[in-house]
Amino acid sequence: MDSNSFSFSSDRQGIVTTQCVPADQEPDIVSLRPERLAEYIGQRETIETLKIAIEAAKLRGEALEHVLFHGPPGLGKTTLAHIIANEMGGRLVVTSGPALEKGGDLIGMLTQLETGDVFFVDEIHRLSKAVEELLYPAMEDYCIDFIFDKGIHARSHRFRLKQFVLVGATTRVGLLSSPLRHRFGIFRSLDFYDKADLIKIAGRSASLLNLEINDQGAGELASRSRGTPRIVNRLLKRVRDYAQVRCDGKITRTAVSDALQLEGVDNLGLTPLDRRYLQTIIEYYKGGPVGIEAIAATLQEETDTLVDVVEPYLLKIGLLMRTSSGRKASSAAFSHLGYPVD
Ligand SMILES: Nc1ncnc2c1ncn2[C@@H]1O[C@H](COP(=O)(O)OP(=O)(O)OP(=O)(O)O)[C@@H](O)[C@H]1O
Ligand SMILES: [Mg+2]
Repeated sequence: MDSNSFSFSSDRQGIVTTQCVPADQEPDIVSLRPERLAEYIGQRETIETLKIAIEAAKLRGEALEHVLFHGPPGLGKTTLAHIIANEMGGRLVVTSGPALEKGGDLIGMLTQLETGDVFFVDEIHRLSKAVEELLYPAMEDYCIDFIFDKGIHARSHRFRLKQFVLVGATTRVGLLSSPLRHRFGIFRSLDFYDKADLIKIAGRSASLLNLEINDQGAGELASRSRGTPRIVNRLLKRVRDYAQVRCDGKITRTAVSDALQLEGVDNLGLTPLDRRYLQTIIEYYKGGPVGIEAIAATLQEETDTLVDVVEPYLLKIGLLMRTSSGRKASSAAFSHLGYPVD
């Protein structure tokens, strides 16, 4: 008994000693995020805009203008915020619209920033009105006026801020108020990546993870990744497991298609939720037009998830249409899902 418990505790000790440091470098923990503009694949125009703006700001010795990124999840908004901080040599301070509930939360963060730091606000369309209004003078004049108490006891205090760079990210630029939108000097929408870029991303991630992938394997992975780098990386890890167990670790076209079939990802990259969404429009609403609320209620999913995550790609590849009277499934959607096209 005793000796058992002794060997158990010595094992456990191993976990916290330096002997286990190499585990930190295990493939899973390797960051797949590009860290510099030069390493970034795709979104050429956005990268060019940033390169010029960053170089010009450095030449003038000024902070970069505030930057707003818009686009569906997983296309690289957070990655670009990291890259801007790296290129400008500042720190990155991360928060999100819903996390900044009160004015005090924002002031606490802004007053800690140093010159050249990047303040990244994810889901910036979800800031409360009060917090958003505090942000206006902070963005324009690097100061913030905070009012204590109410009525005749009201006192205000002006905090001076260092020259920081605000980077905002949003999946719904339409929900951003126009005063906020206009305070960003640089505004870029990120679009889905084309197949050639996704192939390069798959190759880059595979080499960072020490995986063997051939051209057909990378091509197949790229076609099934919904134009999205995050999905390339996620599917690559699923395929890696499959390939290790079933095909000597080599990632080929067959390994990708077999592994992803198990995951429920079809040859266009549609997930079970994408297909259920289209099936709902086709089966319950005769192909549409139908309102998004009705689809969400039938599917028992959040409207926001459907609008932010599911719809953008289906619109992009022409399986879905948005009309003034609601959503419609296209004839391509009917045939992809095996329904007769009339
Ligand atoms: N151009 C790229 N090249 C290689 N990998 C990329 C690229 N862009 C993004 N990635 C990878 O995709 C992943 C997702 O990107 P990121 O987190 O920046 O997306 P996001 O747009 O912020 O998404 P969300 O809206 O969900 O926060 C990152 O972990 C990164 O590894
Ligand atoms: Mg993000």
